[in-house]
Amino acid sequence: MVGWHGLVFAIFKGLVAQSLVPAHAKAETPVVLEAPPLAVSRPPNPENGRKIVADRRRGMCLLCHSGPFPEERFQGNLAPSLAGAGTRWNEGQLRFRLIDSTRINPETTMPAYFRAEDKNRVGRAFSGRTILSAEEIEDVTAYLSTLRD
Ligand code: HEC
Repeated sequence: MVGWHGLVFAIFKGLVAQSLVPAHAKAETPVVLEAPPLAVSRPPNPENGRKIVADRRRGMCLLCHSGPFPEERFQGNLAPSLAGAGTRWNEGQLRFRLIDSTRINPETTMPAYFRAEDKNRVGRAFSGRTILSAEEIEDVTAYLSTLRD
């Protein structure tokens, strides 16, 4: 039993602790997760990244997303447009989302493009592989970073 005094003290401590948090940190509490660059065998290639994003058999991104792809007739509307993604998110945040966006939002429909531990759950053709390679993740990250508002 903490008793009445204990309770008042606990509330008081909570208030003091809260008042020590800077005002701007209180207003927004997003978990901003970032991933460092992956080890790759060549420098990132944003043009290749664009191809991966637009290609339905590789990235599949346009099944859900739209974006600045005037040549692509069918684009998704199940997710935010990729236009301006490089303004909204930094490189580390974009990379993190591509690697495994379920670690940002467990309910998301977006596939985890570089989560190796899933390999037992996918078909044999893919076993031991991630959806995209490390090089492709870096290419797509570099491309998304160029999408500025
Ligand atoms: C099956 C649907 C689906 C596919 C395929 C998909 N995404 Fe997503 N994506 C989402 C959803 C839904 C969100 C919204 C946030 C969430 O649910 O986590 C999202 C969020 C994002 C965001 C953050 C958008 C923002 O500005 O808030 C980026 C960037 C992104 N996706 C990039 C990609 C790229 C690049 C690909 C392909 C390599 C891809 N996505 C494939 C569904 C998808």
